[in-house]
Amino acid sequence: MARVLITYGTTEGHTATIAEVIADVLHDLGHDVQTADITTLEHTVPDGYDALVIGASIHMGKHDKHVVEFVRRNHDTLERLPSAFFSVSLAAHGDTQEAQGYVEEFAEETGWHPDKIALFGGALLYTHYGFVKRHMMKKIAGDKPGHLGTDTSRDYVYTEWDAVKRFAEHFAGQLESASA
Ligand SMILES: Cc1cc2nc3c(=O)[nH]c(=O)nc-3n(C[C@H](O)[C@H](O)[C@H](O)COP(=O)(O)O)c2cc1C
Repeated sequence: MARVLITYGTTEGHTATIAEVIADVLHDLGHDVQTADITTLEHTVPDGYDALVIGASIHMGKHDKHVVEFVRRNHDTLERLPSAFFSVSLAAHGDTQEAQGYVEEFAEETGWHPDKIALFGGALLYTHYGFVKRHMMKKIAGDKPGHLGTDTSRDYVYTEWDAVKRFAEHFAGQLESASA
Protein backbone atom coordinates (compact mmCIF):
# COMPACT_ATOMS: atom_id res chain seq x y z
CA MET A 1 0.00 0.00 0.00
CA ALA A 2 1.29 3.46 -0.91
CA ARG A 3 0.29 6.83 0.53
CA VAL A 4 -0.71 8.86 -2.51
CA LEU A 5 -1.44 12.59 -2.73
CA ILE A 6 -3.61 13.74 -5.63
CA THR A 7 -3.49 17.51 -5.93
CA TYR A 8 -5.06 19.63 -8.64
CA GLY A 9 -5.58 23.11 -9.96
CA THR A 10 -9.13 23.88 -11.04
CA THR A 11 -11.23 26.91 -11.92
CA GLU A 12 -14.72 25.48 -12.43
CA GLY A 13 -14.26 22.24 -10.48
CA HIS A 14 -14.10 19.63 -13.24
CA THR A 15 -10.46 18.69 -12.55
CA ALA A 16 -11.46 18.06 -8.93
CA THR A 17 -14.14 15.62 -10.14
CA ILE A 18 -11.53 13.77 -12.22
CA ALA A 19 -9.16 13.71 -9.22
CA GLU A 20 -11.89 12.06 -7.11
CA VAL A 21 -12.42 9.33 -9.73
CA ILE A 22 -8.66 8.61 -9.76
CA ALA A 23 -8.70 8.58 -5.94
CA ASP A 24 -11.57 6.07 -5.87
CA VAL A 25 -9.72 3.69 -8.21
CA LEU A 26 -6.46 3.89 -6.22
CA HIS A 27 -8.38 3.48 -2.97
CA ASP A 28 -10.19 0.39 -4.29
CA LEU A 29 -6.78 -1.03 -5.24
CA GLY A 30 -5.71 -0.75 -1.59
CA HIS A 31 -3.84 2.56 -1.50
CA ASP A 32 -4.18 5.30 1.09
CA VAL A 33 -5.21 8.35 -0.97
CA GLN A 34 -5.76 12.02 -0.15
CA THR A 35 -7.02 14.63 -2.59
CA ALA A 36 -6.35 18.34 -2.20
CA ASP A 37 -6.97 21.51 -4.17
CA ILE A 38 -3.45 22.80 -4.77
CA THR A 39 -4.33 26.20 -3.32
CA THR A 40 -4.88 24.55 0.11
CA LEU A 41 -1.30 23.22 0.24
CA GLU A 42 1.41 25.37 1.79
CA HIS A 43 3.47 25.53 -1.44
CA THR A 44 5.29 22.29 -0.59
CA VAL A 45 4.53 18.58 -0.84
CA PRO A 46 3.40 17.57 2.66
CA ASP A 47 5.56 14.93 4.38
CA GLY A 48 4.65 11.28 4.41
CA TYR A 49 3.56 10.64 0.83
CA ASP A 50 5.08 7.88 -1.32
CA ALA A 51 3.66 9.09 -4.64
CA LEU A 52 2.01 12.09 -6.25
CA VAL A 53 -0.59 12.67 -8.93
CA ILE A 54 -1.03 16.26 -10.12
CA GLY A 55 -3.82 17.56 -12.35
CA ALA A 56 -4.35 20.94 -13.98
CA SER A 57 -6.96 22.40 -16.28
CA ILE A 58 -6.29 24.70 -19.21
CA HIS A 59 -7.68 28.22 -19.43
CA MET A 60 -6.72 30.55 -22.26
CA GLY A 61 -4.03 28.16 -23.45
CA LYS A 62 -2.28 27.83 -20.07
CA HIS A 63 -2.24 25.26 -17.28
CA ASP A 64 -3.44 26.46 -13.89
CA LYS A 65 -0.77 28.87 -12.61
CA HIS A 66 -0.85 27.48 -9.04
CA VAL A 67 0.11 24.08 -10.43
CA VAL A 68 2.96 25.49 -12.54
CA GLU A 69 4.29 27.33 -9.48
CA PHE A 70 3.90 24.29 -7.19
CA VAL A 71 5.67 21.96 -9.62
CA ARG A 72 8.56 24.40 -10.06
CA ARG A 73 9.01 24.76 -6.29
CA ASN A 74 8.79 21.00 -5.64
CA HIS A 75 10.69 19.83 -8.69
CA ASP A 76 13.23 17.69 -6.77
CA THR A 77 10.57 15.89 -4.71
CA LEU A 78 8.51 15.24 -7.83
CA GLU A 79 11.50 13.81 -9.67
CA ARG A 80 12.32 11.55 -6.70
CA LEU A 81 8.84 10.09 -6.05
CA PRO A 82 6.68 8.08 -8.47
CA SER A 83 4.51 10.74 -10.08
CA ALA A 84 1.88 11.28 -12.74
CA PHE A 85 0.35 14.33 -14.38
CA PHE A 86 -3.04 14.81 -16.03
CA SER A 87 -3.99 17.78 -18.16
CA VAL A 88 -7.66 18.72 -18.63
CA SER A 89 -8.77 20.72 -21.65
CA LEU A 90 -11.34 20.93 -24.41
CA ALA A 91 -8.51 20.49 -26.90
CA ALA A 92 -7.99 16.96 -25.59
CA HIS A 93 -11.39 16.26 -27.13
CA GLY A 94 -10.82 16.61 -30.84
CA ASP A 95 -7.55 18.54 -31.14
CA THR A 96 -4.96 16.29 -29.52
CA GLN A 97 -2.09 18.16 -31.16
CA GLU A 98 -3.07 21.36 -29.37
CA ALA A 99 -3.56 19.49 -26.07
CA GLN A 100 -0.14 17.87 -26.51
CA GLY A 101 1.35 21.32 -27.15
CA TYR A 102 0.00 22.58 -23.80
CA VAL A 103 1.73 19.69 -22.03
CA GLU A 104 5.02 20.26 -23.88
CA GLU A 105 4.94 23.90 -22.82
CA PHE A 106 4.22 22.82 -19.22
CA ALA A 107 7.22 20.44 -19.32
CA GLU A 108 9.45 23.26 -20.58
CA GLU A 109 8.17 25.71 -17.96
CA THR A 110 8.57 23.31 -15.02
CA GLY A 111 11.33 20.88 -16.07
CA TRP A 112 9.27 18.06 -14.52
CA HIS A 113 9.26 14.60 -16.13
CA PRO A 114 6.39 12.63 -14.56
CA ASP A 115 6.37 8.84 -14.96
CA LYS A 116 2.99 9.07 -16.62
CA ILE A 117 1.07 11.82 -18.46
CA ALA A 118 -2.56 11.82 -19.58
CA LEU A 119 -4.67 14.28 -21.56
CA PHE A 120 -8.35 14.26 -20.56
CA GLY A 121 -11.21 16.05 -22.24
CA GLY A 122 -12.74 18.72 -20.01
CA ALA A 123 -16.25 20.05 -19.63
CA LEU A 124 -18.35 22.94 -20.85
CA LEU A 125 -20.34 23.85 -17.75
CA TYR A 126 -22.58 26.48 -19.35
CA THR A 127 -25.16 26.36 -16.53
CA HIS A 128 -22.42 27.26 -13.99
CA TYR A 129 -20.83 30.09 -15.98
CA GLY A 130 -21.76 33.75 -15.61
CA PHE A 131 -23.21 35.63 -18.58
CA VAL A 132 -19.93 36.75 -20.15
CA LYS A 133 -18.14 33.41 -19.78
CA ARG A 134 -21.18 31.52 -21.11
CA HIS A 135 -21.29 33.56 -24.30
CA MET A 136 -17.53 33.53 -24.78
CA MET A 137 -17.40 29.74 -24.38
CA LYS A 138 -20.32 29.27 -26.78
CA LYS A 139 -18.44 31.26 -29.40
CA ILE A 140 -15.19 29.34 -28.80
CA ALA A 141 -17.04 25.99 -28.86
CA GLY A 142 -18.71 26.88 -32.15
CA ASP A 143 -15.40 27.83 -33.76
CA LYS A 144 -13.34 24.85 -32.52
CA PRO A 145 -12.93 21.52 -34.23
CA GLY A 146 -14.29 18.55 -32.27
CA HIS A 147 -18.06 19.17 -32.40
CA LEU A 148 -18.36 20.92 -29.06
CA GLY A 149 -21.85 21.63 -27.76
CA THR A 150 -23.30 25.13 -28.01
CA ASP A 151 -26.67 24.70 -26.25
CA THR A 152 -26.08 26.96 -23.23
CA SER A 153 -29.10 25.60 -21.34
CA ARG A 154 -27.12 22.46 -20.51
CA ASP A 155 -23.63 21.22 -19.63
CA TYR A 156 -21.36 18.99 -21.73
CA VAL A 157 -18.75 16.64 -20.29
CA TYR A 158 -16.11 15.34 -22.70
CA THR A 159 -14.09 13.31 -20.21
CA GLU A 160 -13.67 9.66 -21.13
CA TRP A 161 -14.13 8.13 -17.70
CA ASP A 162 -12.76 4.74 -18.81
CA ALA A 163 -9.51 6.44 -19.82
CA VAL A 164 -9.36 8.13 -16.40
CA LYS A 165 -9.82 4.75 -14.70
CA ARG A 166 -7.17 3.12 -16.91
CA PHE A 167 -4.74 5.95 -16.06
CA ALA A 168 -5.29 5.32 -12.35
CA GLU A 169 -4.94 1.54 -12.73
CA HIS A 170 -1.76 1.95 -14.74
CA PHE A 171 -0.29 4.27 -12.12
CA ALA A 172 -1.21 1.76 -9.39
CA GLY A 173 0.69 -0.88 -11.41
CA GLN A 174 3.75 1.41 -11.44
CA LEU A 175 3.49 1.83 -7.66
CA GLU A 176 3.42 -1.91 -7.20
CA SER A 177 6.49 -2.45 -9.40
CA ALA A 178 8.29 0.42 -7.60
CA SER A 179 7.67 -1.21 -4.20
CA ALA A 180 8.54 -4.75 -5.39
C1 LIG B 1 -12.70 30.79 -19.71
C2 LIG B 1 -12.26 29.44 -20.22
C3 LIG B 1 -11.15 29.34 -21.05
C4 LIG B 1 -10.75 28.09 -21.56
N1 LIG B 1 -9.66 28.04 -22.39
C5 LIG B 1 -9.33 26.84 -22.94
C6 LIG B 1 -8.25 26.75 -23.86
O1 LIG B 1 -7.56 27.72 -24.16
N2 LIG B 1 -7.99 25.54 -24.43
C7 LIG B 1 -8.73 24.42 -24.11
O2 LIG B 1 -8.46 23.37 -24.66
N3 LIG B 1 -9.73 24.46 -23.20
C8 LIG B 1 -10.04 25.64 -22.61
N4 LIG B 1 -11.07 25.71 -21.71
C9 LIG B 1 -11.76 24.49 -21.32
C10 LIG B 1 -11.37 24.00 -19.93
O3 LIG B 1 -10.07 23.44 -19.95
C11 LIG B 1 -12.41 22.96 -19.48
O4 LIG B 1 -13.64 23.64 -19.32
C12 LIG B 1 -12.03 22.25 -18.22
O5 LIG B 1 -13.00 21.27 -17.94
C13 LIG B 1 -11.92 23.20 -17.03
O6 LIG B 1 -11.54 22.46 -15.90
P1 LIG B 1 -11.75 23.03 -14.42
O7 LIG B 1 -13.22 23.08 -14.17
O8 LIG B 1 -11.07 22.04 -13.54
O9 LIG B 1 -11.08 24.36 -14.35
C14 LIG B 1 -11.47 26.93 -21.19
C15 LIG B 1 -12.58 27.04 -20.34
C16 LIG B 1 -12.98 28.27 -19.87
C17 LIG B 1 -14.18 28.35 -18.97
